[in-house]
Amino acid sequence: MAEYQQVKVADVIQETADAVSVVFDADFPYRPGQFLTLRCGDVARCYSLSSAPGLDRPQVTVKRIPDGYGSAWVCDNVRPGTVLDVLPPAGIFTPKSLDDNLLLFAAGSGITPVMSIVKSALAHGTGKLVLVYANRDESSVIFAARLRELASRYPERLLVVHWLESLQGLPTARHFAALRPFMGYQSFLCGPAPFMDVVSQALRSSGVPRERIHVERFISLSGNPFEEVVDEEPADGSEATVQVDLDGESHTFPWPRHKKLLDLLLEKGLAAPYSCREGACSACACRIERGEVKMLQNEILDQEDLDDGIVLACQSLPVTDTVRITYT
Ligand SMILES: Cc1cc2nc3c(=O)[nH]c(=O)nc-3n(C[C@H](O)[C@H](O)[C@H](O)COP(=O)(O)OP(=O)(O)OC[C@H]3O[C@@H](n4cnc5c(N)ncnc54)[C@H](O)[C@@H]3O)c2cc1C
Ligand code: FES
Repeated sequence: MAEYQQVKVADVIQETADAVSVVFDADFPYRPGQFLTLRCGDVARCYSLSSAPGLDRPQVTVKRIPDGYGSAWVCDNVRPGTVLDVLPPAGIFTPKSLDDNLLLFAAGSGITPVMSIVKSALAHGTGKLVLVYANRDESSVIFAARLRELASRYPERLLVVHWLESLQGLPTARHFAALRPFMGYQSFLCGPAPFMDVVSQALRSSGVPRERIHVERFISLSGNPFEEVVDEEPADGSEATVQVDLDGESHTFPWPRHKKLLDLLLEKGLAAPYSCREGACSACACRIERGEVKMLQNEILDQEDLDDGIVLACQSLPVTDTVRITYT
């Protein structure tokens, strides 16, 4: 079972007719763009922090999905004073430097991690930011007033381009061609799959290399990290060796070939990060420094992550006899 905290809700803010921000009465470190995993009734769901570290109280913003269980649970049940079970912040949808120029694309609730990045970069960085923000119509624009305020406070650094489906129809790759002057920036994309496909296509066809395109996919977990996990696979006796650098310490363990890396590290008492344990969220991402692993499942890392040596510890089995990994 995951090590979770119980966190009290300080406030619930109705952002739009179907989106609420849940503000926590807590303080914990995280990076802009990271997410929390909440126990929502019988399920666990990931929600990105829309707050900026050191600037606001931590908060997530949840949009009610038609027929969705977890989002409805949050919108209908969470009130000031509610105590929620929460896994530690996780995820790799976060700029390497807040001084970078950033080209940000968000659609609907995809604004959540992007908002955290925008606020953090404006307050603590020096780069220019261009945000393209797509929504169904004006009433569904989350954080409209806050974005207006930031754009007028930082006119030299922040450009917000709204795209309203009700007025302009669905965006196509051709529409984004006008953004060509900004395509040397680091790109961050978050929204429904068809939106991200169109944006990725526009960026790639303008020659933006994969390493400058960072994507966050909003999917629902099918497993529940708040429940006990049973290692059912039989040992066959064969072992590799893994050296792990985590939290400034180095550890070396025999690594049974049937055992997933995350399971091994937790068994050894290490506080390795994770959330879904099913290859869907990237909370357990780490980097291979030496050797090779194979992943049983990967719904979240793209080719560029893999080329960088990033793997999901929750899905990794050893291929070579020795493997060295680091958590960054
Ligand atoms: C890293 C990460 C960050 C995220 N951040 C945010 C955030 O900041 N804000 C936010 O609002 N969301 C965020 N999400 C998405 C969130 O975790 C949930 O996926 C979302 O709230 C929907 O969950 P739900 O339980 O309400 O819907 P679900 O019950 O999971 O259903 C989702 C939709 O799928 C349909 N559906 C469900 N099961 C099936 C099925 N078997 N066949 C066909 N259709 C089905 C439902 O009808 C519904 O329309 C994030 C996800 C990830 C992975
Ligand atoms: S814990 Fe979610 S991908 Fe590994």
